[in-house]
Amino acid sequence: HQGRAAEHLLFNLIAKPGHIIPSNTHFDTTRGNIEAAGAEAVDLPVAEGKIPSLDHPFKGNMDLDAQEALLREKRDSVPAVMMTITNNAGGGQPASLENIRAAAQIAQHYRKPFFIDGCRFAENAWFIKLREPGQQDRSIKTIIHDIFEVADGMTMSAKKDAFANIGGWLALRDDALAERARTLLIQTEGFPTYGGLAGRDLDAIAQGLSEIIDEDYLRYRVRTNAYIAERLDAMGVPVVKPAGGHAVFVDARAFLPHIPPLEYPGQALACALYEMGGIRGCEIGTVMFGRKPDGSEEPARMDLVRLAMPRRVYTQSHADYIVEVFEDLAASKDQLRGLKIVKEPPMMRHFTSEFEPL
Ligand SMILES: Cc1ncc(COP(=O)(O)O)c(C=O)c1O
Repeated sequence: HQGRAAEHLLFNLIAKPGHIIPSNTHFDTTRGNIEAAGAEAVDLPVAEGKIPSLDHPFKGNMDLDAQEALLREKRDSVPAVMMTITNNAGGGQPASLENIRAAAQIAQHYRKPFFIDGCRFAENAWFIKLREPGQQDRSIKTIIHDIFEVADGMTMSAKKDAFANIGGWLALRDDALAERARTLLIQTEGFPTYGGLAGRDLDAIAQGLSEIIDEDYLRYRVRTNAYIAERLDAMGVPVVKPAGGHAVFVDARAFLPHIPPLEYPGQALACALYEMGGIRGCEIGTVMFGRKPDGSEEPARMDLVRLAMPRRVYTQSHADYIVEVFEDLAASKDQLRGLKIVKEPPMMRHFTSEFEPL
């Protein structure tokens, strides 16, 4: 019924304590499910993907040298390789077709299955069409076909690039593994034909999958984010460049340099946006990724705030409103304070932690 239910099935089947699962960047629920299975989730993004202000067409690419080195050195500990397209936690950035193919090839060389977290596959294909040399005259559908041709399976949240209110799936080429997944599914959701997903939702997904590849829709969607990011950039609010496919990501660490990472600048900014403008964003930073499985805490690679745009919901006025709220916020940002956590669960703390201002 959700992407994370697919992840839960997959990692229950393939991940064991001591295992390492590399990805360009795991999303938080993916990481949570891998860690819940006792394995280690390792992010191997390209260097460009770690610098919010750097403009680069494919900041969601996998660091292929690092992937190859990991497989060479720890081959027996790696049950599979994953890739998230677009890379949500890394700023909604796409991976190129060339990079996806190369990552799949390396996995194949070491006889490891290659799985795609395909939540935003259509947006990723749109960026490939726009930015990758030689792809301009190809249809979105053909590009999508090329992406998934090299995959051994995928996890999917249908709330993203399937336009549905709810849903997800796990797709596998390996029939024996798929059968084990279906058996496991019965424990928690029932058969694929009932249970977690009602028939009307399956219908919505089928319809959504045909509408999501409409180029006019994709152009409008991606342009909305680019517009907000350009306006914020022009007023000096640091954003991840270029704009992501599904969201504008604000670099809270750079915007609020007086708040150290362990006082959660992203969470402070997300709260201020909600208090001042009723804008509900989401911290993607040290609250989300700072707590390590051994209990220690360290700053995440970046402290971002994601302003995710629901599909086909907002108008130009909403985009302008976001910019106006940032104008007010920028004028008083030095008064914002960091936060401390007063209550947190042992895993995936960003969903339910409670905070107090410092
Ligand atoms: C890249 C990525 N993977 C997995 C998920 C999990 O999907 P769901 O929310 O349907 O469980 C999400 C969204 O939350 C996501 O953005």
